[in-house]
Amino acid sequence: MTNTQRAILVRTYGGAAAAEVAEIAKPTAGDGQVLVRVGAAGVNGIDWKFREGLVQKAFPVQLPAVLGIELAGTVEAVGPGASRFKVGDRVMGPLGRLGAYAEFVAVAEANLVHTPKGLDDMQAAGIPVAAVAAWLSLHQAGPIAAGQRILIHGAAGGLGGYAVQYAKQAGAEVFATSSAAHLDYVRSLGARHVIDYRSQRFEAVAQDIDLVLDYVGGEVLDRSWDVMTPNGATVSAAAPDIAARTPAGRRGLWFANKADATLLARLADEIAQGSLASRVSEVVGFNDIPAAIERNRAGPRFGKVVADFAR
Ligand SMILES: NC(=O)c1ccc[n+]([C@@H]2O[C@H](COP(=O)([O-])OP(=O)(O)OC[C@H]3O[C@@H](n4cnc5c(N)ncnc54)[C@H](OP(=O)(O)O)[C@@H]3O)[C@@H](O)[C@H]2O)c1
Repeated sequence: MTNTQRAILVRTYGGAAAAEVAEIAKPTAGDGQVLVRVGAAGVNGIDWKFREGLVQKAFPVQLPAVLGIELAGTVEAVGPGASRFKVGDRVMGPLGRLGAYAEFVAVAEANLVHTPKGLDDMQAAGIPVAAVAAWLSLHQAGPIAAGQRILIHGAAGGLGGYAVQYAKQAGAEVFATSSAAHLDYVRSLGARHVIDYRSQRFEAVAQDIDLVLDYVGGEVLDRSWDVMTPNGATVSAAAPDIAARTPAGRRGLWFANKADATLLARLADEIAQGSLASRVSEVVGFNDIPAAIERNRAGPRFGKVVADFAR
């Protein structure tokens, strides 16, 4: 075995060309870590923001950095003090940091769960960040009660697809925005009211909203205050400056994801059993990850993009 491996590296912040395929040193498993041979990694809506340095304040990163925040694969080695997994176990999880787009990654074992039987690495790699972030952001402002009116912006995306399902399962009345091509998909996940954000203003359909989940940011967030009930809340995963943009008397909360292995294990089991839908809309090869990151920034898409490391 060589001591180097392929990785998707950013040396300086920038546009599409700033993420490149590079050779870097292979890590070893440190204290409480396992070394994972990565089978697949999820491509996320936040990858291009890391690449451009846009989330540096909320999530500080030292350059050069390997991009990628979640993976699925097989345990290759077990570090000192790690005891939950053995060599050959199939695992999945978020890193809680950057670095998943590399062939071997040392991961804190506390972040990982066993990949349920019935999920291959491609299905598993797209679950850890989006499924957990959607759950935690949905519940951040308080418990969800049946009959609550919840507006989800970016409902066709990685987080949005799960949030629609969780809200529906909790008995909420779900309003969801997406592009026209994805309205049927979002409806199939449980949204009662679907809104094409290009041809319709969401304000015309969504009023008296108890909870806004903002997975888009920008003017979508700024327009959302007007559709909320006086006691309503907006939780944004897309606008780290939401506090400064929250009008007086309103409740606006920034969401910062965290690893939660117990929650991830439950959600992954539900997906494996078919009670929660998880859609992989595109599989790309390793060398195509930089292009997929850029497409995720620019183009409309639904569900998750994952990278197959065997390609
Ligand atoms: N704070 C945190 O800890 C954290 C963690 C994870 C993710 N995030 C953030 O959460 C956001 C969503 O992430 P993701 O991975 O779900 O992204 P994603 O998979 O790229 O999905 C984004 C979705 O937004 C939709 N969209 C674009 N413009 C829209 C608009 N004006 N109105 C409504 N929908 C619109 C697109 O739908 P169409 O394809 O239908 O156009 C797309 O499906 C990103 O901003 C990401 O950075 C934050």
